[in-house]
Amino acid sequence: MISTFADQKRKTIETAEFTEDGRYKRKVRSFVLRTGRLSEFQKTMMNTHWGELGLDYQNTPFDFARVYGNANPVILEIGFGMGQSLVDMAYANPDKNYLGIEVHTPGVGACIAYAVEKGIKNLRVICHDATEILRDSIADNTLGGLQLFFPDPWHKAKHHKRRIVQPHFVENVVKKLKDNGFIHMATDWGNYAEQMLEVLSANPHLTNTSENADYIPRPDFRPLTKFEARGHRLGHGVWDLFFTKKSV
Ligand SMILES: C[S@@+](CC[C@H](N)C(=O)[O-])C[C@H]1O[C@@H](n2cnc3c(N)ncnc32)[C@H](O)[C@@H]1O
Repeated sequence: MISTFADQKRKTIETAEFTEDGRYKRKVRSFVLRTGRLSEFQKTMMNTHWGELGLDYQNTPFDFARVYGNANPVILEIGFGMGQSLVDMAYANPDKNYLGIEVHTPGVGACIAYAVEKGIKNLRVICHDATEILRDSIADNTLGGLQLFFPDPWHKAKHHKRRIVQPHFVENVVKKLKDNGFIHMATDWGNYAEQMLEVLSANPHLTNTSENADYIPRPDFRPLTKFEARGHRLGHGVWDLFFTKKSV
C-alpha cells in the first residue's frame, strides 16, 4: 500500500524534544492515539482538501488575516473529535473564523469531509498536539475565543495530571486571547467540571460569566457533540463554563 500524506500525518502530531544531554523527552500527553483506521473516504478527503482546509504546525505564528482572507475573530476549538459540531458552528457563524485542532486522524478526515459537504470557507483544521500549536503557532492577543468540549476526562486520580485543563494550560490560553475573548468549556464528568471551575476561577485575568460564579445553563448555540450524546445515554450530567478575559 502506498503511504499518502494522510497516513503520514499521524506520525507528526508532535515535535520531538530532547533533554540537555540529548535524551528523548517523554511528555505527559492529554491524549492517547487511538488505533481507529482512516477510512479510504476520509483519507481521500484529507489528501484532496488539505490545501484549502488544513494547516500544518509551524514554529512561527500563523497570520490569520492571510489564512482566512479577512479580519473576523478566530475561535479555536481543541479536540473536535469527528468535527460535526465544529462544522455546524462554522456554518451557523459565517462572521467568525474557526480553527480546529485534533490528533485523531479519522476525526480530521471526517471533519474535512463534512466541511466540504457543507461548503464551509471559514474553517481550518490542524492535526497536531494542541499544546504545541498554542505555544508555537499562535501569536499572543490574537484569538477571539477558545472552545474545549468534552475533553478526555482521565477518570483515575493517578491520571489527573494528563487532563488538558491545568493552570499552565489556562495561562497559555489567556495569553493568546484578545481582551474580552472567551473560554467556553463543557464536560459530562463532575469531578473534571470542579477542576475546570477551580483552575479558571484562580486565573486573575478571567471573569466568570455565571450568575452564581460556577456553571452556566447549557447554551443553545453549542451543538450537541458526539461525546455529549454518549454522556446522555450513560445518564451523565453536563456542565458548561464560560469565562471572559478582562480588558486591561
Ligand atoms: C473525549 S473526545 C471529545 C471530542 C468532541 N469534542 C466531542 O465532544 O465529541 C476528546 C478529544 O480531544 C482530543 N485531544 C486530546 N488532547 C488533545 C491535544 N493535546 N491536542 C489535540 N487534540 C486532543 C482527542 O483526540 C479526542 O478526540
